[in-house]
Amino acid sequence: MARDNAVYACQACGAVHAKWAGQCSACNAWNTLVEEVSARPPGALAPTKGARRQGLAFETLEAETPEPPRIPTGIEEFDRVCGGGVVPGSAILLSGDPGVGKSTLLLQVTAQAALRGASVAYISGEEAIEQIRSRAGRMGLAQAPVKLAAETSLRDILEALKREHFDLVVVDSVQTLWSDALEAGPGSVAQVRACAGELVRLAKKRRTAVVLVGHVTKDGQVAGPRVVEHMVDAVLSFEGERGYPFRILRAGKNRFGATDEIGVFEMGDSGLREVRNPSALFLGEGGERAAGAAVFAGIEGSRPVLVEFQALVAPSAYGTPRRAVVGWDSGRLAMVLAVLEARCGFGFGDQDVYLNVAGGLRINEPAADLAAAAALVSSATDMPLPQGCVVFGEISLSGEIRAVGRAEARLREAQKLGFDQALSPPLTVKDKGVRTTSVNRLTEAVERISQNRY
Ligand code: TYD
Ligand code: MG
Repeated sequence: MARDNAVYACQACGAVHAKWAGQCSACNAWNTLVEEVSARPPGALAPTKGARRQGLAFETLEAETPEPPRIPTGIEEFDRVCGGGVVPGSAILLSGDPGVGKSTLLLQVTAQAALRGASVAYISGEEAIEQIRSRAGRMGLAQAPVKLAAETSLRDILEALKREHFDLVVVDSVQTLWSDALEAGPGSVAQVRACAGELVRLAKKRRTAVVLVGHVTKDGQVAGPRVVEHMVDAVLSFEGERGYPFRILRAGKNRFGATDEIGVFEMGDSGLREVRNPSALFLGEGGERAAGAAVFAGIEGSRPVLVEFQALVAPSAYGTPRRAVVGWDSGRLAMVLAVLEARCGFGFGDQDVYLNVAGGLRINEPAADLAAAAALVSSATDMPLPQGCVVFGEISLSGEIRAVGRAEARLREAQKLGFDQALSPPLTVKDKGVRTTSVNRLTEAVERISQNRY
């Protein structure tokens, strides 16, 4: 029989329902509602009895608000993504696929922060102390004064953190925690939500920055860290393409910094190495660029990054030609192909089209449109672009090339890496070292590429 205070939480989206149902009305998933015991019915306000009631006092927008203090961890790529170091008392969720390197990154972050004088704890529910120790030894961090614990009981963790003050605490991972106040098993939405909630509260109260690790699973079997995202101040994701050593740290939400910032790392034998010049990394070995390759001068967060777009256009063996894209949006590719066909008469109807962003980086900027189009046209016409040429510009549905932001930074980065030419929309800024070939319409770009005229 259902208890009075029973509620039903969807294991897929975390929505809480007062009644059981076969389908979650929030996310439409079937058979995902699981009974939980709640302290109070959903939607009810916390009891105010005993608490001193105060009227609501409004404030002005303008006031002296000092910048929040920061704990620099010494891992600059990490600090930058956080907005310039970790804010005391903030809660951060670091999510990513299992094995991408979250524990490695946080062990390095905690060790470096501890070496810089911060009081730091690393609590692992996933690995044994010996395992973490041997990893730290391999990374040359064994001397760092990090307080280490292997624990999954929320009660014990909270007690320890109340007993001793820390500037920074890592809990790896939130899915392994369990609170004895709940009947649900570790990893269930109820447990993840309750444990994360308690730790976030403690972070605020004790001014301890808490980093929670959350695994993301594709099939959604383990309760994803989605439910935690609302509670924390920042959500960082750690990504990497299989087979590449590069790892990208991204801020998806950040109350204390920009959200488009990225940090770039390279996984090696002794841990993660910070990559200060990602362009050199993503461009790979110099060498001749073949037909179908276009170097995109992009901006990731606050930094310009050059990456190579590679296209392969080949006659299709089947009735329905293939379109495969890695590192870019497939919808965006479909749009560029449609504009090339409709506005430039450049059809790919009976061709297979493959597009790849080299190095495993995922590009989201519309400014990459022209680079993708250039790579496609170059492959289809078998005409390589000039060796020292970078490309950027947004393509509109009408076939116009639109201006994009931060052109100057893009040109400067290109020049720094030995490029001396740019195919772009008309620019108001100039860079002495880079000659720009401006194109107003996609047809012009197609003509220039196919006739090798710049
Ligand atoms: P890990 O940090 O355990 O991943 P996560 O916590 O996200 O699950 O990293 C695991 C992978 O990283 C593992 O496949 C081995 C690799 N690795 C290295 O290549 N070099 C190293 O120095 C370390 C510590 C790990
Ligand atoms: Mg781990």
